[in-house]
Amino acid sequence: MRTLDDLDVKGRRVLVRADLNVPLDGETITDDGRIRASVPTIRTLVERGAKVVVCAHLGRPKGKVAPEFSLRPVAARLGELLGQEVAFAADVAGPSARETVEALHDGQVALLENLRYEPGEESKDDAVRGEFAAKLAALAELYVGDGFGAVHRKHASVYDVPKLLPHAAGGLVEAEVEVLRKLTEDTARPYVVVLGGAKVSDKLGVIANLLTKVDRLLIGGGMAYTFLAAQGHEVGNSLLQKDQLDQVRGFLNEAAQRGVDLVLPVDVLAAVTFAADAEHEVVEATAIPADREGLDIGPKTRELFAAKLSDARTVFWNGPMGVFEFDAFSGGTRAVAEALIRSDAFTVVGGGDSAAAVRRLKLPEDGFSHISTGGGASLEYLEGKTLPGLAALED
Ligand code: 3PG
Repeated sequence: MRTLDDLDVKGRRVLVRADLNVPLDGETITDDGRIRASVPTIRTLVERGAKVVVCAHLGRPKGKVAPEFSLRPVAARLGELLGQEVAFAADVAGPSARETVEALHDGQVALLENLRYEPGEESKDDAVRGEFAAKLAALAELYVGDGFGAVHRKHASVYDVPKLLPHAAGGLVEAEVEVLRKLTEDTARPYVVVLGGAKVSDKLGVIANLLTKVDRLLIGGGMAYTFLAAQGHEVGNSLLQKDQLDQVRGFLNEAAQRGVDLVLPVDVLAAVTFAADAEHEVVEATAIPADREGLDIGPKTRELFAAKLSDARTVFWNGPMGVFEFDAFSGGTRAVAEALIRSDAFTVVGGGDSAAAVRRLKLPEDGFSHISTGGGASLEYLEGKTLPGLAALED
């Protein structure tokens, strides 16, 4: 993969595909982690005298203009973090984008409006995507792929534009790929993976692949209840994916055959309803009352998981252990995060909700070896899939 050092950017228009998909409450950015992670590459290009044209998506407006998904608030925050003005184009590759880019001087930065306002960005039709990619590419002379969180998407700005312009990977993509390589090649052992989050169906591919690689797999969060049910336990009103029970039984058998220590919760916080102030109690994971739902792992499980992490040399963690957005049910996620912080292992937080949890729970970000900006992207990498946005940068 070529890197920024392989491009001569001075005085040239450089299109940077970043991942600026941040959570918004109205126009307020509630977690600017991805914007901060995008700054170093943009700053490098600024310092090298490029005219920097940043493009990104926000949410899923599905090919239509929708003001609530505008990147305008992101342009303002990016400007604050860069310490210079970021010009904002009111369209993606139309007259406003062309005018804004035309007006850039060396070392200046512009952000285009949400790529996903354009149906061509996500189209499954190669020709439609190609046509939009050509319009985007026409805005610049060089391309830098730095939106790690979107490299698993075969979208015009990720996959097709690098075929049209001389290109390189940005520093964020380089760093993320380097970390993921450490999780897949010559991994220091014991290698322990902690998975959580709501649905096991989102993680089938990665579990199948990890069972061939890890020493221990700790499962918490909503997905744990399907594992407990697959072992024949009552899970009450907890999240349960009945259609995945056979698949999950297969994972349990495979783990046993391979000698992988697959660890499930031994106790949970069982609540009467799904609410921040729900009445709840600690119950054995094998005896959840029929009228209750598990919203977090319990104290014995927190200790058990911490013990299973204590001698690890490599840890990957993806997905919260409970409903961390509710204070009463954030303790399990906090306990896992703190076990990683205490550990001497190479610790990687795999994007998405787990990265958001680290920030929401105000845990020190530098307590981890790496916090990925890509949830889906890092899981697909660990699943062994070819990621379109990385393949395009390698050509
Ligand atoms: C993410 O939030 O994981 C990335 O920005 C990709 O977004 P998407 O899942 O909507 O493609």
